[in-house]
Amino acid sequence: YTRAEVAQHRSPTERVWVTHGTDVFDVTDFVELHPGGPDKILLAAGGALEPFWALYAVHSQPHVLELLRDYKVGELSPEDASPPPGDTEDPFAGDPPRHPALRVNSLKPFNAEPPPELLTQSFLTPNELFFTRNHLPVPAVEPGSYRLRVEAPGGRALSLSLAELRQRFPKHEVTATLQCAGNRRSEMSRVRPVKGLAWDIGAISTARWGGARLRDVLLAAGVGDSTGDTEWHVCFEGLDQDASGTPYGASIPLKRALSAEAEVLLAYEMNGRELPRDHGFPVRVVVPGVVGARSVKWLRSVAVSPAESPSHWQQNDYKGFCPSVDWDSVDFRAAPAIQELPVQSAITEPRPGAAVPAGELTVKGYAWSGGGREVVRVDVSLDGGRTWREAELGARPERGRGWAW
Ligand code: MTE
Repeated sequence: YTRAEVAQHRSPTERVWVTHGTDVFDVTDFVELHPGGPDKILLAAGGALEPFWALYAVHSQPHVLELLRDYKVGELSPEDASPPPGDTEDPFAGDPPRHPALRVNSLKPFNAEPPPELLTQSFLTPNELFFTRNHLPVPAVEPGSYRLRVEAPGGRALSLSLAELRQRFPKHEVTATLQCAGNRRSEMSRVRPVKGLAWDIGAISTARWGGARLRDVLLAAGVGDSTGDTEWHVCFEGLDQDASGTPYGASIPLKRALSAEAEVLLAYEMNGRELPRDHGFPVRVVVPGVVGARSVKWLRSVAVSPAESPSHWQQNDYKGFCPSVDWDSVDFRAAPAIQELPVQSAITEPRPGAAVPAGELTVKGYAWSGGGREVVRVDVSLDGGRTWREAELGARPERGRGWAW
């Protein structure tokens, strides 16, 4: 079979096919028997099992392969047994391979989110499933020749290799959630159309980041601790560039960058491994509690400046407006750049419209708040229109306390 033929079998009605190595299996009759639940095995339908098995180690046992053997229906045709060669004309041809479970919102540039039910499978999002928000092609960085330029006021500057960043500064670890400002935009668009990628509820993920504190690097570059009292900014530039050579850029207030509590990192590790290419290899900024747009990936420069970053993404994007503003009346200069984000929450399981069994129901989801503010309580309510459900619960659900559902 060709991979295209296998890809046509993605649901029990069209049969569920998967591959392992060069073998093709029809696992339709196993779907309901899958110990992890039918919805999880269906994520791999029509494609390879290996990327899923690599994430969920329970599969690396001989009896699993043994069991699979009973479902074999054929083999991949030789020309399809290896991936096709890349297109060298395409600026995105050098992008890294991605996990097939990711829900792709745009392929070039790559923007994708984990399926909701995998997001709440574990508190730390596996690197392969962490949402990806790229504006441009992923740069190919040679770690041996990588240098980070750090500019302090008064012409002082520092140039650091990756080894110097690792050795000169103590490694600091922070568990932080990144969220894109567009998270849940598809829900917003149902109320009123909004421009931008149609993110579902997964443009948010959590990792344990490891790296040097931005504070320590700035102090080493000669930035005085007292400059944190000013209204200055720290501007970041990435190594990714558009066709005119303009890089991605963003900035945060210097006060946050110098604050020990804010724990802003120049991260080179994500969940104990080196940063994956999609997430900024070899070094990215991580600004906990702040919109993901300021956590610049593939970091090439850090500069202390009296002004915010001049970048398009600081000046003309990632700003918040009141509902009366539309694309005809918007004045980007009049609005402040988004930094901290407000409270956010969503239910990941069950999915909207899903049929659920009567009786007790486990509801899974996440709740998060920006700026390091804690979530102290989560209230879950049922659809107000379905009062029979409320009656069944024997209590009136509470509405409008941070949960919109
Ligand atoms: N940094 C660079 N250099 N280029 C980018 O396109 N995207 C930003 C930010 N940093 C971006 C970037 C946006 S909008 C977000 S939400 C986060 O990276 C996403 O980080 P992630 O892809 O690791 O989830």
